[in-house]
Amino acid sequence: MYPIKRNRRLRTNQAIRDLVKETVLTPNDFLVPLFIVEGKGIKDEIPSMPNYYRYSLDLLKAEVKTLWAMGLKSVLLFVKVPDQLKDNKGTEALNSNGLMQRAIKLVKDTCPDMIVMTDVALDPYSAYGHDGIIENGEILNDETVDVLTEMSLSHAQAGANFVAPSDMMDGRILSIREALEDDGYTNTGIMSYSAKYASAFYGPFRDALDSAPVDLIDIPKDKKTYQMDYANRFEALRETEMDIDEGADIVMVKPGISYLDILRDIKNEVDVPIAVYQVSGEYAMIKAAAEKGWLNHDQVMMETTTAFKRAGADIIASYFAKDIVKLIS
Ligand code: PBG
Repeated sequence: MYPIKRNRRLRTNQAIRDLVKETVLTPNDFLVPLFIVEGKGIKDEIPSMPNYYRYSLDLLKAEVKTLWAMGLKSVLLFVKVPDQLKDNKGTEALNSNGLMQRAIKLVKDTCPDMIVMTDVALDPYSAYGHDGIIENGEILNDETVDVLTEMSLSHAQAGANFVAPSDMMDGRILSIREALEDDGYTNTGIMSYSAKYASAFYGPFRDALDSAPVDLIDIPKDKKTYQMDYANRFEALRETEMDIDEGADIVMVKPGISYLDILRDIKNEVDVPIAVYQVSGEYAMIKAAAEKGWLNHDQVMMETTTAFKRAGADIIASYFAKDIVKLIS
């Protein structure tokens, strides 16, 4: 009781604050998303994601080496698929010589120890920008799961260490796990986007990959029939527990900053590693406010990212990974 207890004693100077600090970010915390395009010599800045780029494979090589040298040892790959290769069923996703499959090989050839995780979802391949096959005004679940399963096998064949299904179809983790086991990919892991919300924060990402849902007469332009309602909390636990039962090695909460409560709820309930995805819109907000001089970029970046780890994240997927590592090392 005051004055015997004075909490400010432990805040007197930087040395004592460092001594009692509960949460410290290190390069080991980060998973780096990478956007990949066809072509040569391309390092293309994404307009709504300042200082973030789409790379062609030749330049991806150098970027991967840079990341490794900085101590960033895991990447999450996304590809931008040319329009003429898109259809309803995501056929191109299964092409063993597709952009994703070539990207996986390139990263593993360049940096054999780099952990390669791959996005498994139809939207970059879908002519409609949806994560599922469309028929009669419906996003089909089980037919989509079949494609996601084949896609996962194709990524495993190319050398992916983890597949990361980001689609939110029911039952896809079990289907993928069983197929990987049957084909002998017993060491290929699954990071499941378990609690993924239908969020307005994904806008810049959809610009980056040109993957936004298109206007259709009989299908809503949002993803609310498969991604979760942001008003819900207990549903996130249900989704996460099911994915773990189905064989997920790592689970994920997405987006990040508006979902810290969900992250903590899940951390308190499950015992597998938990990832959080600080998504494109979160990145864009900080960049935009900093450009206007309204917020201090580095301070807000550190504060929000530290909050993920404090809330329970073991892994942070973040477009700030490089900036943060530069700052802390
Ligand atoms: C696609 C996918 C999305 C993101 C990751 N995988 C977009 C979406 O679901 O529409 C968003 C990532 C971000 O905004 O940074 N399944």
